[in-house]
Amino acid sequence: MASEAKASPRRYPMYINGEFVESADKKYFPVVDPSTEEVMAEVPEANETDVNRAVAAAKAAFDSGAWPQTTAQDRGRILFRLAERIRKEAPHLAELEARNSGKPIVEAEYDINDAATCFEYYGGMATKILGQVNPVPDNALSLSLREPIGVAAQIIPWNYPLLMAAWKLAPAIAAGCTCILKPAEQTPLTALEFASYLADAGLPAGVVNIITGFGETCGAPLVKHPDVDKVAFTGSAEVGKAIMRAAADTVKRVTLELGGKSPNIFFADADFESAIDGALFGVFINQGEVCSAGSRILVEKSIYPKFVEAMSAKAKTIRLGPPLERETKMGPLVSKDQFDRVRSYQELGKKEGKVAAGGGRSASFKRGYYVEPTIFYDVDNTARIAQEEIFGPVAAVIPFADEAEALRIANATPYGLAAAVWSRDIFKAFRMVKALRAGIVWVNHMQPTYVEAPWGGYKQSGFGRELGPWGIEEYLETKQVHINLNEQPIGWY
Ligand code: NAI
Ligand code: MG
Repeated sequence: MASEAKASPRRYPMYINGEFVESADKKYFPVVDPSTEEVMAEVPEANETDVNRAVAAAKAAFDSGAWPQTTAQDRGRILFRLAERIRKEAPHLAELEARNSGKPIVEAEYDINDAATCFEYYGGMATKILGQVNPVPDNALSLSLREPIGVAAQIIPWNYPLLMAAWKLAPAIAAGCTCILKPAEQTPLTALEFASYLADAGLPAGVVNIITGFGETCGAPLVKHPDVDKVAFTGSAEVGKAIMRAAADTVKRVTLELGGKSPNIFFADADFESAIDGALFGVFINQGEVCSAGSRILVEKSIYPKFVEAMSAKAKTIRLGPPLERETKMGPLVSKDQFDRVRSYQELGKKEGKVAAGGGRSASFKRGYYVEPTIFYDVDNTARIAQEEIFGPVAAVIPFADEAEALRIANATPYGLAAAVWSRDIFKAFRMVKALRAGIVWVNHMQPTYVEAPWGGYKQSGFGRELGPWGIEEYLETKQVHINLNEQPIGWY
């Protein structure tokens, strides 16, 4: 008898203590392809029991066995092997990433390449973690030693799934920490693929554990576990604040990257065509699902009407499409939740500003979480669409009169992740660079990100820095060692 039933979706195991496992209660949850709204895989739903297992494995691997015996060179080689494997599997990883997250395949290819580069960078850095001799007086030798912090819980979002895993895991491994990585529930697939490379690269069991689950039932118990020494989190401000509170009980080290409402500031003397491209790229890349999205577009009044018109005209030509088509420049949003959230901001924007482009669901697709690239203008900086992170392709354009007003508006936000300034006047541009309260400032560009340079925010965008030498600092403790060179008794009592 012919059955209409579809093949059941592939089940991925998660990875604890070097083994591919189900959750303790054998529950799974679906992973959805946002361009078709169909279930593309199932992954284990980890709860507190699984968290405890993963933390125990990470703690045991940190305390004893092969890992504490590895040399810096060993750790470097492991990281290089992981990078090489990512490059080898890049076509498959990019396709899986694009399907699962909705991002265009060409952008996914960049992400996978960047993930490999991050492992290479920290592979090189493993052998460059240096201690210090401190110039103390007296007959003594004073040293500062750098040691791994211990067990790191790493909780990541869905907008750059494998790349965020790389930003977290690579410096932690280089430093000698052990890890429990929790990918976002929407996009766990590339991290689970990556799990299958770890043992081949020479990583001992328990050093990296990758568990899949939801925020409340998997992320929260991980954050409060007493054997976790450090929490590294990228995601919403709301969850970041909860993590900080939960971490207080056992004084965990915490680093937070919480997104923003970054200003992209255009002076009249900027090159006009580059400016329009930069405004679009700043806010629409990756469907606008970017922590550093230039979602507040500040434009000097003398070019404002022309700017809004040119930007909107070009926005309307952005090619939306299925993530796997190479011509696609914008895919669907990651999930139904994110789609609903962005749709509600589009509706709010119609009350708070005027529509210059988009404003709704994309009419070209019957299925999939596609929304139109949307531009609102004449927005006041106090409006909710100018203050709240939308995390979708929605821009608020705000006019300004002069440099002082641009600066005042730019800094009038609780966030401080990034900012960009466009001008051909280097004096003005550099004055702005110094006065902007943001962790990343671009001049005549927006969004390029390099593993060699620090990444992180001011104000409520979080604290701590990822990437570069800063990134490894967040996984290291500093031990002061005093060695007495004077053989005489102390002689005080
Ligand atoms: P979220 O902050 O809830 O999720 C990010 C990660 O945190 C996921 O792995 C999630 O499972 C985990 N998580 C959630 N609640 C947790 C808890 N109580 N304890 C420990 N871990 C927890 O972000 P969500 O709900 O996916 O998106 C909502 C909004 O957050 C977005 O619209 C966007 O504005 C912002 N966001 C910002 C990101 C950034 O890169 N800064 C990334 C993702 C979201
Ligand atoms: Mg959430």
